[in-house]
Amino acid sequence: MSKHEPVLLKNMLQPGYTGSLADYEKTGGYQALRKVVGKVPPTDVTGTVMKSGLRGRGGAGFPTGVKWGFLPKDYQGPRYLCCNADESEPGTFKDRQLIERDPHQILEGILLACYAIGAESAYIYIRGEFVLGAKILEAAIAEARTAGYIGTNILSTGITANVWVHRGAGAYICGEETALLESLEGKRGLPRVKPPFPATHGLYNKPTVVNNVETLANLPHIISRGPEWFASIGSPPKSTGTRIFCVSGHVKRPGNYEVPMGVTFRELIYEEAGGMRSNKPIKAFIPGGASAPFLTPDSLDVKLDFESVAAAGSMLGSGGVTVMEEGTDMVWAALRLMEFFYHESCGKCSPCREGSSWLVQTMRRIVAKRGRMEDLETLVDLCKNIAGRTVCAFGDAEISPIMSTLKHWRPEYVKMIHEAEAANLIHPKRIMAQP
Ligand SMILES: Cc1cc2nc3c(=O)[nH]c(=O)nc-3n(C[C@H](O)[C@H](O)[C@H](O)COP(=O)(O)O)c2cc1C
Repeated sequence: MSKHEPVLLKNMLQPGYTGSLADYEKTGGYQALRKVVGKVPPTDVTGTVMKSGLRGRGGAGFPTGVKWGFLPKDYQGPRYLCCNADESEPGTFKDRQLIERDPHQILEGILLACYAIGAESAYIYIRGEFVLGAKILEAAIAEARTAGYIGTNILSTGITANVWVHRGAGAYICGEETALLESLEGKRGLPRVKPPFPATHGLYNKPTVVNNVETLANLPHIISRGPEWFASIGSPPKSTGTRIFCVSGHVKRPGNYEVPMGVTFRELIYEEAGGMRSNKPIKAFIPGGASAPFLTPDSLDVKLDFESVAAAGSMLGSGGVTVMEEGTDMVWAALRLMEFFYHESCGKCSPCREGSSWLVQTMRRIVAKRGRMEDLETLVDLCKNIAGRTVCAFGDAEISPIMSTLKHWRPEYVKMIHEAEAANLIHPKRIMAQP
């Protein structure tokens, strides 16, 4: 049992909690919406969210209230809210639990955000594989509509707020906000060049906010309990609130753990997730989803907040913490992730499309014990030519596993190549057979 008070997972941890509207209302659900809609000016809601210090939980950690504030004030046409439920980052599975176990918490957050930014329509873009989640959300929307929380004239205030579920077809890139918007518009999910940003030119070229599921789920609590309460949790002033970390890999109890930001990796892994399954020491961990550079056990006492993880050379990202025990083959681990990125590269930008292909081929060659010493330079060269040269952050993400494993475990690459060389010496015909 965790010693930390859960906020977002609290309801679902109660015995018998089903996530129905009746259950959610019993816990105080939709009181935050009742408190502000039609009573408090929308700009004050944005101000409250700014004051809370809430930062996006989707990956980049951008301050939520500040993002909302970028929408043009005097724009008369429609504006949109998109809830990013694509959850495509490997090692990340928190949004899925929030959706399946407490959908009304997310819907209330969506309605609060709609009110704050003046959007009459919100779209939940959910990854295609989350069939159950999509059904649960549809059912919850129907319940909330019947109860007067969603629709025209919500809570008899004259305000309109509609929410729609849109299922994606299962592409990593569609979690990127502008590719998500393209996909939502019925086009192929390719990222857009920014600027212009979605705040001014988003869905159907209208002012749009894209927020992650967990980000939005925090809103009812911030409105109900106040921004000061939220800002006092975690590592103020820059990393406030709790965060759901998805712990996977060689731990005893993989799962989602909600802790205040600022606890250490050691506490998360050894106290919350029960430590290592085989009691072997930790060799490596990824702190924030597959896009985040690997860290070594030297970083176990780093705090889980945006600044501390960045200072340690990685990023908090999506909150997916994958732990690997001593004995893990790090070159193979990097190849495994590279295979994923190669498969998912959308192909729009040449450095990523071509570079991911060459990276995966070179890595496969090394792991197949057919590598050459110059392959290591080729890998670094390819990574450097991808970094910062793509339309979206996918390029920077895909080079993380290779660059960080080369930084920390270069001898493992060298050993594999030496083994390849030795094998070739013994079997000279294999040298001739090489491509
Ligand atoms: C390749 C790529 C994939 C992404 N996948 C997701 C995702 O699955 N879910 C998500 O919320 N954000 C994802 N993001 C981040 C979004 O672009 C965007 O920053 C986020 O949805 C904004 O919400 P937030 O401010 O609430 O964090 C991804 C970004 C990139 C570059």
